[in-house]
Amino acid sequence: MPLPFQHLTSTKQLTRGDTDAILRVAAEMEGVLKKGGSDLLHGKILASLFYEPSTRTRLSFETAMQRLGGQVVTADGLQFSSLYKGESVEDTIKVVNQYADIIAMRHPEQGSADRAASVSAIPFINAGDGPGQHPTQALLDLYTIEKERGKIDGIHITMVGDLKFGRTVHSLSFLLGLYKDIRFTLVSPAELTMPEKVTSFYKEKKIAYTETENLEDGLDADVVYMTRVQKERFEDAAQYERLKLKYILTAQQLKGRSVTVLHPLPRVGEIALDVDPLPTAAYFRQVRNGVVLRMALLAMLLKKA
Ligand code: CP
Repeated sequence: MPLPFQHLTSTKQLTRGDTDAILRVAAEMEGVLKKGGSDLLHGKILASLFYEPSTRTRLSFETAMQRLGGQVVTADGLQFSSLYKGESVEDTIKVVNQYADIIAMRHPEQGSADRAASVSAIPFINAGDGPGQHPTQALLDLYTIEKERGKIDGIHITMVGDLKFGRTVHSLSFLLGLYKDIRFTLVSPAELTMPEKVTSFYKEKKIAYTETENLEDGLDADVVYMTRVQKERFEDAAQYERLKLKYILTAQQLKGRSVTVLHPLPRVGEIALDVDPLPTAAYFRQVRNGVVLRMALLAMLLKKA
């Protein structure tokens, strides 16, 4: 089941048909993973280029490729690549095209993924471009919502924390816009509200949303999506220190509620450890879903699923 595009740089490029197909293949990959893997991508090489820190995205892409019988070449850290010597993103991608069959790249600059895709002859996947987009995270979030809640249409989702710089909430908002009767509650400090590029999308699609600074206002939702305040995007360290732990979700606040708790991770204190044992705390299951979702994408973009 090939996808009708070669590169994945943004969730805005996806249709409901695309997300239905990706989620269906991801569900099939659960069976492949349970068996320990397959040789579907034998002979294929993933170039895993991470010029910004990552644990989950990088390791799950590499795990996904290896579970499907493919191989991985990696570059990590700007300072250990020729980007540090001044090579352009475009030249780096043209070079990597000579080695690999598919590329996943994380880069600190918003827009770098589109520049990379524009010169790539092999499939290119955006693994996070600064405060821009993180489409594969949003797809695994969507997959997790469907698994945890049994549906996506009609859900009420509360997004909490750094909505300004948090690329995952931008990408997920655009994806949820493909579904029916979605309602958003946006909880953030005034300095970190959802950017206009996303709120104008809600308005254009007539999606209901409310903005508040109070976490309690959002806890009667189906899903609460916590986010970390993105330290690396702040120019003013004092402002980061003031805002970093404005919201801390605790087991006490969740008592008597059935809201599913998600977080793209890493967390740095915004979900208390006493939430972890709750059956509705789904963030480590969300991590595991990243493997099958990325197995599906690699297979589909390489026209093997
Ligand atoms: N969710 C996510 O992107 O995590 P990493 O930064 O560890 O890849």
